[in-house]
Amino acid sequence: MCDFVDIDINGSTYQLPVVNGIYSNNKAINISKLVENTGFITFDPGFKNTGITKSSISFIDGEKGKLLYRGYPIEQIIEKCSFIETCYLILNGDIPNSKQLEFFSQKIKKFNFLHPKFYEIINQIPNFYHPMGFLSFLTHIMTAFTKSNLIEGNDIYIDLLSKFPLLVALIYRKKIGIPPILSDTNIYYTSNLLKMFFSVSNKLYHHNPIIEDALDKLLILHADHEQNCSTTTVRLLGSAHVGLFSSISSGINALWGKRHGGANQAVIEMLEIMLQNGSNINKWINKAKNKKDPFRLMGFGHRIYKNFDPRAVIAKKVAEKLIDKLGIHDPILELAKKLEETALQDSYFQEKKLYPNIDFYSGIIYQSIGIPKEMFTVMFALGRLPGWIAHWREMKKNNDPIGRPRQIYIGYKKRNIDKSN
Ligand code: SDX
Repeated sequence: MCDFVDIDINGSTYQLPVVNGIYSNNKAINISKLVENTGFITFDPGFKNTGITKSSISFIDGEKGKLLYRGYPIEQIIEKCSFIETCYLILNGDIPNSKQLEFFSQKIKKFNFLHPKFYEIINQIPNFYHPMGFLSFLTHIMTAFTKSNLIEGNDIYIDLLSKFPLLVALIYRKKIGIPPILSDTNIYYTSNLLKMFFSVSNKLYHHNPIIEDALDKLLILHADHEQNCSTTTVRLLGSAHVGLFSSISSGINALWGKRHGGANQAVIEMLEIMLQNGSNINKWINKAKNKKDPFRLMGFGHRIYKNFDPRAVIAKKVAEKLIDKLGIHDPILELAKKLEETALQDSYFQEKKLYPNIDFYSGIIYQSIGIPKEMFTVMFALGRLPGWIAHWREMKKNNDPIGRPRQIYIGYKKRNIDKSN
């Protein structure tokens, strides 16, 4: 590990300090004094080469296809933890013992209700409003119903973690035109979510442990992922001292984009079109490779992973096990596996190191559970919530400066207004 690097500019040498992470392949050149010392800014559209903060929540080794939450490999967490234990881990830094878990779960249950006004408001909104817009809106109006004493204390995090699944279920039931039902605080978080989704008031609800296990694992896989677009959005708003709910409401909008979390809905829509058009896989692969064609293979490629996305590897196994146990024959899963196989043998995808990402298989799981496509990215947001909260809190604790990048100006030089003609 080196402590400095030298850069030569117009005959002068400048020493820039190096910032070293825990792993030797995670290091940065500290350019915080670059403008002051050299008059240069850096230029890095999309922040592909830029670290914006120091964080201890998750770590991705893109070359090796590894993901750690607070140091634990995702493969171990998925086998040994529930989503609620993972929320505790992401928020508090370690896996809870039984006493801590019980206390955490009880606190979540304590906040597990919505102000009656939410039900009035939800009736005013047209049901053709996309669920992601709906979720951002309802998250934002939580600012109106949360007591100010919560705003400063730890309970604001628990309040949001507890109420979010209620908002998600409310949106789902509005979307399919059935009345909301109240939360059942006597059962586990994910069981309660499924019950609030699928129970019909006049029928006894049958809990399916196979479905609950699959969904709980999928929520774990989404819990955090370093400085992805939506998490950086949450941090950026927090750096301007915007409140937690408003920051996360904006993160939800960033996640909605098809290049980001909206890809899980786009993958299924892409596979359905392929199925309707006779699944000529090579035709679609060639379209995706054609620079002149805007078509991209949704669910493929990643800014950081230049190897398999470990979450996609796990999600594929979860999808296969779920579909097998539910006895579903799903042509979409068969097509997805064929598409993955064909793409991974193609030199274009090999040279560009384009592998399936988390969104490639997650939609197949949601669809097998009976969740409609428009709700897929809402489910991604539900999983990502602990990560967003942890990053917002870390940014506050680090007292990060307000995020305000620079630019290279290529517009008009200074000129005068001339209205004579
Ligand atoms: C998520 O950041 C995160 O961690 C995000 C996420 C999380 O957990 O928060 O992991 C969740 O957002 C996963 C990504 C979901 N999005 C998609 O599946 C949409 C399809 N993928 C692409 O849009 C793209 O791969 C991105 C957006 C994911 C990554 O884009 P980059 O890093 O900006 O890379 P790029 O667009 O510059 O692509 C590099 C090259 C280009 O070719 P050249 O210009 O170099 O010739 O690879 C090509 C691209 O055209 N390419 C693809 C492709 N993805 C990249 N070609 C065909 N199909 C694709 N899917």
